[in-house]
Amino acid sequence: MYLGIDLGTSAVKTVLVDDAQRVIASESRALATASPQPGYYEQDPAQWIDATFATLDALKASHAGAMAAVEGIGLSGQMHGATLLDASSKPLRPCILWNDGRSGEECRVLEQRWPALRAVTGNKAMAGFTAPKLLWIATHEPEIFAATKLVLLPKAYLRLVLSGEAIEDVSDASGSLWLDAARRDWSDAALAATGLSRDHMPRLVEGCAPATTLRSELARRWGMARPPIIAGGAGDNPAGAVGIGAIEPGTAFISLGTSGALLAPTNKIAANPDRVVHTFCHAIPGMWIQAGAILAAASCLAWVARLFGVAEAELLAPLGARPQAPSPVSFLPYLAGERTPHDDPAVRGMLDGLSHGTDRGAIVQAVLEGVAFALADCRDALAYAGIAIADADVIGGGSRSSFWLAVLANVLNVPIHRFAGGETGAAFGAARLGRLAVTGEAIAAVCTRPQRVETLEPDAGLTDAYAERLPAWRELYRPRH
Ligand code: XUL
Repeated sequence: MYLGIDLGTSAVKTVLVDDAQRVIASESRALATASPQPGYYEQDPAQWIDATFATLDALKASHAGAMAAVEGIGLSGQMHGATLLDASSKPLRPCILWNDGRSGEECRVLEQRWPALRAVTGNKAMAGFTAPKLLWIATHEPEIFAATKLVLLPKAYLRLVLSGEAIEDVSDASGSLWLDAARRDWSDAALAATGLSRDHMPRLVEGCAPATTLRSELARRWGMARPPIIAGGAGDNPAGAVGIGAIEPGTAFISLGTSGALLAPTNKIAANPDRVVHTFCHAIPGMWIQAGAILAAASCLAWVARLFGVAEAELLAPLGARPQAPSPVSFLPYLAGERTPHDDPAVRGMLDGLSHGTDRGAIVQAVLEGVAFALADCRDALAYAGIAIADADVIGGGSRSSFWLAVLANVLNVPIHRFAGGETGAAFGAARLGRLAVTGEAIAAVCTRPQRVETLEPDAGLTDAYAERLPAWRELYRPRH
């Protein structure tokens, strides 16, 4: 029996997976995000712990027998966040999240200070990444910078609480801008450029390797016979890849979570930081993931549902199963700034083409299309890195909408596949990493590809109509930095 815990942005999701890889139970607890200033996003690490413990307490209450048999735990998490700890491992301030845009200026400073940054990390310095946040802290909160003894990504903080040890996996670490992506190790030069050293960093492990064990008092709390092994785990995107068996080149997929991404596993680095392609180590040894990442995807649908005061399902139902034609309205999904391809933390979203005749459906469809167009920009950025996308699986909450997947198939002009239970992808992938850490089985034997339940094929007429709209949609972007 294995547990996968995904410390997401909107919720902690925990799944209990049996030895036949069936999800036998899952629990989720919502997380709140604070925005103390426009473009700033923070979370209190204490709420991650409360939410995680609540999911595990609930699983103990409903599935005590299965919890007793848990042997391995895998962690997945929102990437890039900066959790700063003092000498007694207490958080010094709220975590600054992956979508926080405050450190744009620090990115320019970092690249000037360390010109090898793009070559070594495979990434452009971007506001969402961890290193520039530390430069921002050094300038704006110097007393906190001085007191910082350890910098952890969100799930490494959770692991510290669960195990007492500071350990990070290389996939999440590659989103920090402190990792030498080819060597899968911290870069001393990168750390020095932000006034830090290895002493401020957790120990590194591969995602499927055993990292540590659960504290014995917590194992007792959840009724486990023995303290389970905790695997390295992965950032949410690489964990999602493991969950759907995307562990080889040619297995591209789209994540439609709070954020969105088009991700392509590779067996060598194919970086293109100039086009804002992200380079992550994969959660399995010898593999990497090249990705175009957008900062708002399913969160755009949540936003429009909030505006209209109705549930997302109610917004989507009138649209039917497939689009008939592009919406007359256009939407830029830059609600939290954008990474690929613009790297512009200051840009904001837009609705264009509104008229007296515009109804709710036209706006909702435009929102889904705007996210799809942004993913087309990601596809083109990956193409410049030599990565062609022939088809794509979709995971994340947004994958529940067939209409959205049909829009994606037509905008990207590739078949789009959906899995049953796709919305638990990262937590399920984490559980697989927990299993690999315990059993040491062959990775391909565990990370199989689940059954696809639906394939949306592009439709020639619609594909042409969207291809015509794409240049006009791109014209709407005006740089704000
Ligand atoms: C990836 C990214 C997001 C976060 C939150 O670069 O910033 O996907 O991991 O989900």
